[in-house]
Amino acid sequence: MLFDLIHKDIETLTCPMLVVFSKSSSQKDKPAKITHADLNKKLALAIEDKMVSGKLSEAILFRELNYKNFRHVLVVGLGKESEIDSEVIRQALASVFEGAKNSGVKEAAVHFDGLTTSKKDSCPFAQAVAEGLGLAAYSMDELKSTNSNKKEEELKIHVVTKAADKAFKTAFSDGVTLSSCVNFSRRLGDLPGNLMTPTILAESAVESAKGTGVKVTVWDKARIKKEKMGGLLGVSSGSSQEPRFIIMEYNGTAKTKKPLIFVGKGLTFDCGGISIKPYAGMEEMKFDMCGGANVIGTILAIAKLKLKVNVIGLVPSTENLAGSSATKPGDIHTARNGKTFEVNNTDAEGRLILADALCYASEHTPQVIVDAATLTGAMVVALGNIHTGYFTRNAQLKTKVEKAAISSGELVWNMPLVDHHGKDMKGTWADLSNISAGKGAGSATAAAFLEQFVGENIPWAHFDIAGTAWATGNRLNYCPKKGASGVLIRTFVELAKQYA
Ligand code: BES
Ligand code: MG
Ligand code: ZN
Repeated sequence: MLFDLIHKDIETLTCPMLVVFSKSSSQKDKPAKITHADLNKKLALAIEDKMVSGKLSEAILFRELNYKNFRHVLVVGLGKESEIDSEVIRQALASVFEGAKNSGVKEAAVHFDGLTTSKKDSCPFAQAVAEGLGLAAYSMDELKSTNSNKKEEELKIHVVTKAADKAFKTAFSDGVTLSSCVNFSRRLGDLPGNLMTPTILAESAVESAKGTGVKVTVWDKARIKKEKMGGLLGVSSGSSQEPRFIIMEYNGTAKTKKPLIFVGKGLTFDCGGISIKPYAGMEEMKFDMCGGANVIGTILAIAKLKLKVNVIGLVPSTENLAGSSATKPGDIHTARNGKTFEVNNTDAEGRLILADALCYASEHTPQVIVDAATLTGAMVVALGNIHTGYFTRNAQLKTKVEKAAISSGELVWNMPLVDHHGKDMKGTWADLSNISAGKGAGSATAAAFLEQFVGENIPWAHFDIAGTAWATGNRLNYCPKKGASGVLIRTFVELAKQYA
């Protein structure tokens, strides 16, 4: 799909399809309203019959209506007027994309000015329009020999407004940038383990950074060993694929300003290691690198948006397999900061590779460290795939995270982390055990393990995206029905803005 912004009065346009919006009334029996006066009259019967109800994401196609210079008219619902916000717009525009695609037209013109008359809303809504269209247009078909999405590729969607000033255009293009970075990360997540190894993930990071001002450094196995990353090395020992440690740096402000550091789990396939997982659903563990993929997407987005911050993205990447040199239950390894840990369950591997990355991050004395990881099945049990659970002991950072998530529209939930959780992670033979001595709170004890590797007084938040990294249903219509979601990239960008 191609989409662009046209600065024009939509009435003067000629296009096969016009897209307008409808709003449901806040009173029960009152009819819906179309945000376009003429069409309210023309479609009065359809409104009266409640065929057009204004319900969010309802998409009703009036074929051959021949309204002005438009053959077809698509009416897309926004829900109740009082509830319209950027998230509603994102979802409505995903319905616009679906409706236009299914209708078979090659071109559609979207009546942006029907979305809002408020000057205050117009920029955030312009961004949300671009995000909704861009995110909905993602699909992963490149591995099928027959490309079923030919129609979709030919589709052009024009967003038409009378009032596109500079700020509006920037907001729209920010939305385009963000959705393309999210889609970039989704693709990395959707690629299967054989086509997305640590080496390929690192190469993808290098390739994607070209022309963005982001510097990418990749450490190979020998360097990882030299850098004393015993966690990453230990997990990688069960696989013939070499591990990689990916470092992405972007300087958007004076070099003297301390960076923000994003860390992402880049486990390209997790079979559990010697503590092997059951076979059912194991194929999903190709997504175990989504934290890493989304951190790569975040750094790219921050650079492309030219935010005035210094950021570093760190992605420890490896497979967790059960080869003959694999870490065995009971083995003890040493992390970069010298702390030792017993690996009592080789399937609790994410925390081991993150440990080294968090040590390295802390050495930069950053303003903040934020990590994202598909870390625990317990998080899926706790929150399902609606909210991302996050842990932080820093009240100011918590406020910032909540603010960022409200701006991005992504749902997050603050989870508890206290000293008791840390006590459960003490080792018998080594400093730490990689699994808890107690029952329950598996996500919090994992967070407590990670905390051991974060430098004192550095604000840190850990996001467990085990439930939200991939879409499993059709909860958000701008996410694929099944596949990587690109979660948190938009929130992390909003968070970074607060440090600019
Ligand atoms: N990658 C998994 C976590 C996971 C599980 C993500 C299900 C998404 C869905 C992680 O490496 C893992 O296996 N964690 C173990 C830890 C346990 C052994 C303490 C888990 O959650 O079962
Ligand atoms: Mg595991
Ligand atoms: Zn894992």
